[in-house]
Amino acid sequence: MDKKLEKMINDQMNFEIYSAYIYLAMGAYFDAKGLTGFANWMKVQWQEELFHAKKMYLYLLDKGGRPFYTAIPDPGKEWKSAKAAFEHALEHEKIVTSRINAIKSAAMKLDDHATSVFYNWFVNEQVEEEKNVGEIIQKIEFVGEKGPGAYMLDKELAARVFVEPPLAE
Ligand code: FEO
Repeated sequence: MDKKLEKMINDQMNFEIYSAYIYLAMGAYFDAKGLTGFANWMKVQWQEELFHAKKMYLYLLDKGGRPFYTAIPDPGKEWKSAKAAFEHALEHEKIVTSRINAIKSAAMKLDDHATSVFYNWFVNEQVEEEKNVGEIIQKIEFVGEKGPGAYMLDKELAARVFVEPPLAE
């Protein structure tokens, strides 16, 4: 595989782990506030991000590459509100989307069809990721951060479960 493209994938694998770490930190923030449903949503997202990293790790190996783990930046620990945490998540997901698009574009330029097709899964996944976070922001705006509405939203987010998708999709 092209060395520059291999590095982009490796960097993205590490960025997915960074994403996982941010969601894990947000989970701890919500658990500490007693919002265990919000925390559950974040911890399911943590697992999703680790799955994304695992998918890229295995792809690198399949292509004869060598995955490298690097230092993960500080994920942060405080957000000023539930909405602020989800807004941060949305901003972060938009960065992920632009990075995925850059990898897909680089693969297309190199006529690396396998990598280009592999990244289609992530292109579609990012639509879901941004949509899911955006919908929660809208719900928080609708019900507020305290009171029965927030309680119900916490219950709704408590129902999220992680289901690992097939690796070879
Ligand atoms: Fe793996 Fe949320 O992007």
